[in-house]
Amino acid sequence: MGTAVGSWRGATLAWVLVLLVGAGALENGLARTPTMGWLHWERFLCSTDCAREPLSCISEHLFMQMADLMVSDGWKDVGYEYVCIDDCWMSLTRDDQDRLQPDPERFPSGIRKLADYVHSKGLKLGIYGDVGNKTCAGFPGSYGYYDLDAQTFADWGVDLLKFDGCNYGTQDQLAEGYRNMSLALNKTGRSIVYSCEWPLYMRPMQKPNYTEIKHYCNHWRNFADIYDAWNSVKNTLEWTALHQDSIVDVAGPGGWNDPDMLVIGNFGLSWDQQLTQMALWAIMAAPLLMSNDLRHISPQAKWLLQNKDVIAINQDPLGKQGYRITKENNFELWERPLSGGAYAVAVLNRQEIGGPQIFSFSTSFIGNGLACNPACSIQQILPTSEDWGLHNWVSFLNIEVNPTGTVLLKVVVIGETPDEKPVMNINKKLSPDIL
Ligand code: GAL
Repeated sequence: MGTAVGSWRGATLAWVLVLLVGAGALENGLARTPTMGWLHWERFLCSTDCAREPLSCISEHLFMQMADLMVSDGWKDVGYEYVCIDDCWMSLTRDDQDRLQPDPERFPSGIRKLADYVHSKGLKLGIYGDVGNKTCAGFPGSYGYYDLDAQTFADWGVDLLKFDGCNYGTQDQLAEGYRNMSLALNKTGRSIVYSCEWPLYMRPMQKPNYTEIKHYCNHWRNFADIYDAWNSVKNTLEWTALHQDSIVDVAGPGGWNDPDMLVIGNFGLSWDQQLTQMALWAIMAAPLLMSNDLRHISPQAKWLLQNKDVIAINQDPLGKQGYRITKENNFELWERPLSGGAYAVAVLNRQEIGGPQIFSFSTSFIGNGLACNPACSIQQILPTSEDWGLHNWVSFLNIEVNPTGTVLLKVVVIGETPDEKPVMNINKKLSPDIL
């Protein structure tokens, strides 16, 4: 009798919860601001030969080193928290109880121990799985094992699951798989951020239903894998701008569009292109998952990735994603509404020939004319921190931007109070210093 009443109460509670969460984001209390951390894929790929590549193979050693550095080199202090394993951590077979298991040579201590280690540093551990029969690199997929795999991850103390969509079968199986894994994670009772690639795999056949995706996932990839190349960053931005009408409004606390990893600190992007990636990932309210080698990273790249003013824009509590306002000649003007009526503004120069170019625009372009009405203070955040002083709604800004680079600003509206008489700084010609 006691059990029957208990399970009836449980069922009622479950229904109340379903009704409460019915319309919004995945309400697991996580990812209230975009997730920050480190993810191995873009930099370390599927390197499994530890005899040949001892320093870069996918092994517990690599993740322990990254966890150490995240603490000792200030990454954790500025908000990077999740140390995430991508594909290629698994053994090619499940164990005798059908559970996933790590490769015994590369992860001899097991994932539970690795999670304990990462937690002892005050960080969190992310892991990778796949909705289909096999992962993209050919390791065991979770199809048919969603509950078991979610429970295994929870038992190990995992805090984030990146769930890929390779080898998924039909579109219905893809959708069912993403939904079922979300429910399975919730059932474990452990707080696990759920990072999906659902819309990316759906798009070629179907238009994603973002309201539904947000209901099940904390973030979701929409577009192709990022590479350490300007073309890749540029294409990701262009895709996002072209689809902004359907993806921007859905983002918010608990659920984010994921344009993929930050590749800053690697080989392929010029300094200006790295500035562009950081600035625009802040505008897009993107998860900041670095994929680089924290053991070998230039002071410049570290400065950029740890820039508190950019991170504050990315993590702004209002949680609104930014968008492209205009594209003129080779310039793009983006803005993101921030809390307190402020705006982040990015001016990107897409021209890949010649030198720095000047883009001129009126402050009335920003925030539908409200950002500088009646007045505002403007701070340049990137390429360097500079105070641009006070402006008003008729100010004209002439901003010099390097080829493929970006100037990032924060515009804070100033109200009209009797003792607050702004001294205007109109028609200022600005030449940002380059580091
Ligand atoms: C891709 C995924 C990448 C990476 C890779 C691993 O499909 O988009 O981010 O996880 O699989 O095999």
